[in-house]
Amino acid sequence: MLPGLSLPSNPNNFSSFQIHFNETIPMSTAKAEDKKITTHTLQEMKKRGEKISMLTAYDFSMAKILDASGIDVLLVGDSASNVMAGHETTLPITLDQMIYHASSVVRAVTRALVVVDLPFGSYQGNSKEALNSAIKIMKESGAHAVKLEGGREVKESIERILSAGVPVMGHLGLTPQSIYKFGTYVVRAKEEEEAKRLLEDARLLDSIGCFAIVLEKIPAALAGTVAKEVDIPIIGIGAGGAVDGQVLVTHDMLGITHEFSPRFLRRYMTLYDDVKKAVEKYIVDVKRKDFPNTKEQY
Ligand code: KIV
Repeated sequence: MLPGLSLPSNPNNFSSFQIHFNETIPMSTAKAEDKKITTHTLQEMKKRGEKISMLTAYDFSMAKILDASGIDVLLVGDSASNVMAGHETTLPITLDQMIYHASSVVRAVTRALVVVDLPFGSYQGNSKEALNSAIKIMKESGAHAVKLEGGREVKESIERILSAGVPVMGHLGLTPQSIYKFGTYVVRAKEEEEAKRLLEDARLLDSIGCFAIVLEKIPAALAGTVAKEVDIPIIGIGAGGAVDGQVLVTHDMLGITHEFSPRFLRRYMTLYDDVKKAVEKYIVDVKRKDFPNTKEQY
């Protein structure tokens, strides 16, 4: 058995099938009533070597649990396109759909910093379009910052958004909005030329005023170099441990999306199986007329 886990005393009792965590697992010391996390907090964390925790959230109920657990940053990722809507890529999700997800998350949060992805097609046209999209997200969702993919090619857009007072998180390495350019989701920047360009882009994003950068699926050594070379926090996904923080898609780390198993993913639960078992038991109870019983009625 894993240390820190206790099994149910009566395995026949379905409601006790869940794994119970006890205090021997090191838990986050952050509490929902702690001071709100700001972009400045993240930069201070980097300075004192405290790692930043970030997860995705797309809805009120999950965001409430993640915030109460003490997560530092909630990303309303355009991965909602895959996870919530079942699309194959992140491309179809719209600005209004991102705002719907983001406003649900914002209503749940008391402590975490809420960052929202600018969806594909809402910022690549020109910097005015990018600014309008960022302003619409901030006004209509109440979120605290935006994230967008790319380096030098989106410099002007980032500068314009920043000039309106909207904090920007960058995203380099594997950038899923460019999937049709890359053709695959394999590790990026393994070759020297691409690695050099990525490092230059990271320096550029730092110099123009981004408050943090996500590095997705690149070699750990390169990610560590970037984290050392720039002053702002580097949050990795599939980028090794030598960076300033980590992000995962919540539905992946909880095992809700059970088909997706990249090397970098650590699963903390297997909820797909647990939920399926619970629903199967519910169906049996209903069919057998065991639910509801006389105590479960008025
Ligand atoms: O949309 C998303 O979930 C993301 C993370 C993978 C960083 O951008």
